[in-house]
Amino acid sequence: MDAVLAAVRDGRARTGRIVVLTGAGVSAESGIPTFRGKEGYWTVGAREYHPQELATHAAFERMPWDVWAWYLYRRGVCRGAEPNAGHRALVALAASERFALVTQNVDGLHIRAGSPRASTYEIHGDIELARCADECTPTRFPIPAAVPDLQKGEPVSAEARAALVCPQCGAMARPHVLWFDESYDEDRFHLDTVRRVASEAALLVVAGTSAQTNLPWQVVSLAGRAGAVIVDVNTEDNPFGDLAHAVARTSAATALPLIVDTLADI
Ligand code: APR
Repeated sequence: MDAVLAAVRDGRARTGRIVVLTGAGVSAESGIPTFRGKEGYWTVGAREYHPQELATHAAFERMPWDVWAWYLYRRGVCRGAEPNAGHRALVALAASERFALVTQNVDGLHIRAGSPRASTYEIHGDIELARCADECTPTRFPIPAAVPDLQKGEPVSAEARAALVCPQCGAMARPHVLWFDESYDEDRFHLDTVRRVASEAALLVVAGTSAQTNLPWQVVSLAGRAGAVIVDVNTEDNPFGDLAHAVARTSAATALPLIVDTLADI
């Protein structure tokens, strides 16, 4: 960790923003399976689906209730989880105007830990929210209370199906998440804001992501172009580690509190 904390001090001393980008690995120690880990798979009928096949608009068009069942199961896992030391540590940084937290996680654990919405950008959505599947408006709404979490393999009941509708137009509701065959935008996923924040970075800490999605790549490359110091926290090698100035090959719940301590009073 010494080289990592030296890099953090270096980034802190420069002029610009302190940006933290988190992925599923940050919630792994809260008991939420990562997307690309073995527990991420999901069975529909006789077929096993990889999240990358299921988290798509195409899958939702073909089998909307199986996709909803998967999200309502995952929502139950997220609700049953508690923020860990990594989520909790990051809350202290929000006191600084220099700080921004960009998360790919839809589990809400950063917000539940106490990170304020104003400086927390959920770029892949929020598993507690739904929106109109026909996109009559971009408005999000909480999944109605009549819709329960599901166990693995449990179907969405007729009552829950009837409740999963857009309150504006009555069309089917969909999870408020960004699917693999969809694009980022500012309205729903903070695209422009996150790009601006990244291009103003003096320090970028990337934690617990496997670098498979587009906006995180833009964050890392914009921060790199801005001359930011880049630190990667991940238990495994990953493409962002190759671009980082310093790498912590340890868990996020271990590394983030040490990094935040080093950033005290930014
Ligand atoms: N601490 C740090 N890193 C960890 C830990 C841990 N305790 N446990 C696992 N990791 C790392 C893994 O090594 C892996 O690189 O976290 C990463 C998790 O990768 P993914 O499961 O691919 O998650 P993520 O990068 O967040 O996925 C991105 O893809 O499926 C979509 O929208 C979904 O937001 C998700 C996005």
